[in-house]
Amino acid sequence: MINNYEKFFIKDFQILKDKRVIVRLDLNLPINNDGGIGDTSRLDEIIPFLKELSFSSAKIIILSHFGSKGESIESVANILSSRLPFIKFISGTDFNFIKGKINEMKSGDALILENVRLFPGETENVESVARNFASFGEVYINDAFSVSHREHSSIVGIPKYLLSFFGPTFEKELINLSKLLTPNKPALLILGGAKISTKIDLIKRYLDQDVKVFVGGALANNIFKQRGVEVGDSLVDTKANLIASVLFHSNLIVPTDVVLSNNEERLINELKKGDTIVDCGKETVEELKKIIEESNTVIMNGPVGLYEEGFNFGTESILTLIANKKNGTTFIGGGDTLVVAKGLDILKRFSYVSLSGGAMLKYLAEGTLVGIDAVTNAK
Ligand code: 3PG
Repeated sequence: MINNYEKFFIKDFQILKDKRVIVRLDLNLPINNDGGIGDTSRLDEIIPFLKELSFSSAKIIILSHFGSKGESIESVANILSSRLPFIKFISGTDFNFIKGKINEMKSGDALILENVRLFPGETENVESVARNFASFGEVYINDAFSVSHREHSSIVGIPKYLLSFFGPTFEKELINLSKLLTPNKPALLILGGAKISTKIDLIKRYLDQDVKVFVGGALANNIFKQRGVEVGDSLVDTKANLIASVLFHSNLIVPTDVVLSNNEERLINELKKGDTIVDCGKETVEELKKIIEESNTVIMNGPVGLYEEGFNFGTESILTLIANKKNGTTFIGGGDTLVVAKGLDILKRFSYVSLSGGAMLKYLAEGTLVGIDAVTNAK
């Protein structure tokens, strides 16, 4: 299956010499409570690629989004330029002005444009916007697997007009995550976070393949509620409705005990009105330990508790159990999961760490992404 993609991997950077190359990156770095930039893993990962492009005398035009509230990407651009001084930031979203700057570029130079989502029409995938972006370059490289579930101009629009490739980070994600489409069994998927409505297809796909699925975090509250269990004031995704064949599947595992917001621990069948579930409990972790040890493949995406408010027992314990696993392969993904694993200093102990969150889940559920199809269907 991965062979289908091989011709879109860049084998010889020399073909990019003197070419204007549009590179879609994911520089959507986490923003701290004080407004500063948090973890820079996504930026660190693409540094060798950008160096190689410049070394190969390409003229590099970088597109990326950043934040969700219309933030300028300048702070990220500054970090990038401090690491790679050949990269310059151009502010503003005026296509003609940007074109003028691109025309002045020399081989090996790189420009990073303003947050791509500040260009009107990007997120609606307006055709004229994609055409304008495409006119900046001669070749397009998508190195943003983690955004490739978004039907945006910079992901699906530009490749309609240009010779297109996947960059090295994309290639790595594709090669590693494609192994999980039919995981080596026995296999276990551990899903956390919220918004179960976006994860139902994935849960069903894995259950149908006889994979065990542990659902923790706010996701589990939906399952409890639909099974008629009292969840008190716990967070529930009102958009979700699980079909009975999923809800009562013997391979679907949920916590048997939980931690409440007042730090008390409760068995699931002892929950009362007014209780708020914020984490899974010791008994649940103990049960998971056995399944983790027995599995050939373990995949985890999303925290199983409100770790950002200090309820990190479940997420930390489960990640540590996976990291300590002696046999089989282990995969983790999702920004929050990575932050916890990084805090525990165990990142190197997983077989593969994906830099993607929602895109990883969508890819595992559907076996492709709109951004993958856009490149493989490109001209
Ligand atoms: C991410 O952080 O998961 C990616 O950058 C995608 O961001 P988005 O959810 O804002 O599209």
